[in-house]
Amino acid sequence: MSKQVISDYNGYDYKKIFWEDADRKYEDMADRLAIRRLLPKKMDKFVDIAGGYGRLAKEYINRAKSATIFDYSKTELKQAKEEFGEQIHTKAGDIYNLPFKDDEFDALMMVRATHHFKDMKKVTSELYRILKPGGIAVIEVANKRTLPKMVRYWTGRSKINPFDKKPSHLKSIDKDGFYNYHPKYMEDIFRKAGFEIIEVLSVSNFRSGTLKKMFKTKTLVKMEKGAQKILAPIRFAPSIYYKLVKLDPKASK
Ligand SMILES: C[S@@+](CC[C@H](N)C(=O)[O-])C[C@H]1O[C@@H](n2cnc3c(N)ncnc32)[C@H](O)[C@@H]1O
Repeated sequence: MSKQVISDYNGYDYKKIFWEDADRKYEDMADRLAIRRLLPKKMDKFVDIAGGYGRLAKEYINRAKSATIFDYSKTELKQAKEEFGEQIHTKAGDIYNLPFKDDEFDALMMVRATHHFKDMKKVTSELYRILKPGGIAVIEVANKRTLPKMVRYWTGRSKINPFDKKPSHLKSIDKDGFYNYHPKYMEDIFRKAGFEIIEVLSVSNFRSGTLKKMFKTKTLVKMEKGAQKILAPIRFAPSIYYKLVKLDPKASK
């Protein structure tokens, strides 16, 4: 068993509590827009890492010959199986020790999970290991360098310096806290692991209670669609999406 923190969603109805009972249609669509753009159109063997109950499964089941959802929570995997049946495989386990063979997949994605992971170096090396050379990883990173966090820091409401590259651990959010990452810190980890960054998107740019009151979801989604690529160089949205390719380790020897 891993000594790392595990955010245990067993027994927690993430689907109902976080998505269905809350006003998060905009955030859900923002994720989907990014995934539609970044995931390969055709894949043989694909895995959704920390994929939960398969919220995003409709974005990949028709693109992949075989799709697996991997997650620690058996509660969520059961929900995924109930909804998607034979269309998906499920596998339970811990991200720090993935129960998959080396070079097993030609594509993977990991969305809304980095905030639970304390050791992104280990997580990234596991993701690299299970991908074939030339394989694609679409990874969403919880960004510590967002505009609201900058404002909170400048006005003295937060001591967390969003410009400091070290990960931040927001202990107050839940029992394990949330980890947020500086884009440069993560980009360094990706490159050192042997990935090349081939595309970046700025996602959930308008995640704000005030904006949600001012604009209809449809309008925010339209704005989001236009902003994801244009704002990517600034890297100040709460979610930064990376499309990575696994470089062939033999080529560098
Ligand atoms: C916020 S949910 C995101 C689920 C899904 N990717 C989505 O976007 O709807 C985070 C997921 O990470 C999983 N998780 C947390 N720690 C884990 C670990 N150590 N190994 C595998 N999965 C883990 C949780 O069970 C949960 O399903």
